[in-house]
Amino acid sequence: MKGLILSGGHGVRLRPITYSQQKQLIPVANKPILFYCIEDLINAGIEDIAIVVGPNKEQVMNTVRSAKWDANIEFFYQDAPRGLAHAVKISEPFLSDDKFIMYLGDNLLKGGINGFVKDFVDAKVEASLLLTRVENPEQYGVALVDEQKKVILQLLEKPKRPPSNLSIVGIYGLTPSIFEAIDNIKPSWRGEFEITDALHWLIEKGYSVRYDLVEGWWKDTGKPEDLLEANRLILDGIFSENKGSIENSRVSGRIVVGDNTVIGENSTIAGPAIIGNNCSISNAYVGPFTSIGNNCQIIHTEIENSIVLDGSNIAHGGKIIESLIGKDVKISRNGSLPKGKKLVIGDNSEIEL
Ligand code: G1P
Repeated sequence: MKGLILSGGHGVRLRPITYSQQKQLIPVANKPILFYCIEDLINAGIEDIAIVVGPNKEQVMNTVRSAKWDANIEFFYQDAPRGLAHAVKISEPFLSDDKFIMYLGDNLLKGGINGFVKDFVDAKVEASLLLTRVENPEQYGVALVDEQKKVILQLLEKPKRPPSNLSIVGIYGLTPSIFEAIDNIKPSWRGEFEITDALHWLIEKGYSVRYDLVEGWWKDTGKPEDLLEANRLILDGIFSENKGSIENSRVSGRIVVGDNTVIGENSTIAGPAIIGNNCSISNAYVGPFTSIGNNCQIIHTEIENSIVLDGSNIAHGGKIIESLIGKDVKISRNGSLPKGKKLVIGDNSEIEL
């Protein structure tokens, strides 16, 4: 069994962060989303993994190579967003005759994929999908199923009138028959070769495509609010660990504090929260469900329910809630006259005052 992770795409809905960072590298609870996918595959016993990269390919490759993995990891380059099925096709030399698990690198799944992988192997089917009930199925691939036989009858990609509320989660068990299916599909209205269409082709040809339902939660981290929700869900399960120093401050709940981080001068930290390495928190409130990256300073500011990436410096920021703050951002108070907000903000930023 092999693993295939897709880590391309422009991440348009996460701009401006994705102008400089590949979306799958955005950290949730201070760990890139992509790393959760790699860990899930390794935990399921998969030792050979390919990652399909697109924009920012060097960044993805360097980040993955900067960590140690109990798996052999290689990379394939997709030159343009030609669809998930196209990404599978270009990985054929690596996948060869093996079964494989395809994992969309912006998906987060609580509880891993061990059960799903085992069911896929045991069932001896052409493909197996993970499905979950959603309120907005028209935004996903949608499945019509036979609940008795646990097989899929029909698959549609983002249908205007969804035949069910069962959406396709970005984790797929596939066999080499998918290559024949991909050769037989045409690009969709969005000009992409859809894996959903290839899977539907298998069903039409009489192949057996089964499914499991997600247990626990699943998150497709396509938008800022999804990332914040994923951050809450992951932080909900952390255990306290303090490698820094906490002086003259109040701490409640579970918090993780990194190396060389100093929390001091009358700060209040209410977990669950994670604060990275080499940070300085002073006269500040870091509230529940907040992840602060490495090398950050939070001074005279209240922040909660937020993600702050590495190297950001927030001083006298007032109360910050439900925010996604990029790398090396500087927020300070304008002490001079005339008073007012002084902004240098990148394209596609969003500010709610
Ligand atoms: C892709 C798939 C879709 C699936 C979704 C899950 O959509 O095409 O079928 O439901 O991932 O995250 P995309 O994120 O490319 O819009």
